[in-house]
Amino acid sequence: MINSNTSLYAVIGNPVFHSMSPVMHNSAFQYVGYDGVYTAFTVTDIESAVTGIRALGIRGVSVTIPHKVSVMKYLDDVDCAARAIGAVNTIINRDQMLIGYNSDGLGAVRALEEHTSLRGKTVAILGAGGAARAIGHAVMAEGGHVTLFNRTAEAGKKLAADLGADFCPLSDNRRLNCQVLINTTPVGMIPETEAMPIRAQWLEKDMIVMDIVYHPLKTRLLREAQRRGCITIDGLSMFVYQGAFQFELWTGKKAPVEVMRKAVLQELTS
Ligand code: ATR
Repeated sequence: MINSNTSLYAVIGNPVFHSMSPVMHNSAFQYVGYDGVYTAFTVTDIESAVTGIRALGIRGVSVTIPHKVSVMKYLDDVDCAARAIGAVNTIINRDQMLIGYNSDGLGAVRALEEHTSLRGKTVAILGAGGAARAIGHAVMAEGGHVTLFNRTAEAGKKLAADLGADFCPLSDNRRLNCQVLINTTPVGMIPETEAMPIRAQWLEKDMIVMDIVYHPLKTRLLREAQRRGCITIDGLSMFVYQGAFQFELWTGKKAPVEVMRKAVLQELTS
């Protein structure tokens, strides 16, 4: 029951109408009996929105496109991993102190660590955008050895240098030579569901293959990987685990990951 003690949470971004965060977090709040409610705000003026978070005492916020970078300068503090990544997607309001975090990379790492420890593992990351930056940083923080594969050499080399990772052009016709493969490019997303970011022959048995695309949930990359005996992790897992990090930060309670995943799946298929 929402009452005058209920804590307010929200996602801010533009657009936010398609966001699955409200359904995911409200199911989790309800499941653990936490007195909170999570909504969505379309925000164009990020500075005013942050003033509003303080003024209204909103307890926690998810930040999405296009504000993940620009929001940083209005916060009181930014956690060192988020600072290194250069983007914030999570805010906690601690007694009027707004602190920024980045849960994207942590979400990916947690999804992977359900299957394996990353320490000492060779990890190939496809792409060199914001998602690759967050995931690359988190994987390296866990002791993984990262090689970035990107279509455009310039962007790939730049991110690899920032992370201290290796770089290889995506067009190089060579084996990936990795134990873990993570696709952060949009290749395979609806409507081009037959597209694949790499050649299927590059997939080898026992690789762990993760795709951050979740439209469709089972991308061609994951289907081909499964056929070759790889362990596969879909894009929903990263989304749910980044949400689990937010939930735990905000409530101090263990996130009901399965409940969150089910809520998002239901939303996706309704
Ligand atoms: P995000 O911030 O969500 O990670 P992004 O910044 O648009 O998204 O990055 C998308 C990544 O996917 C880029 O590395 C892009 O490669 P380029 O640097 O060459 O542009 C990669 N990408 C997008 N479409 C691609 C395609 N058709 N084939 C291969 N890589 C692609």
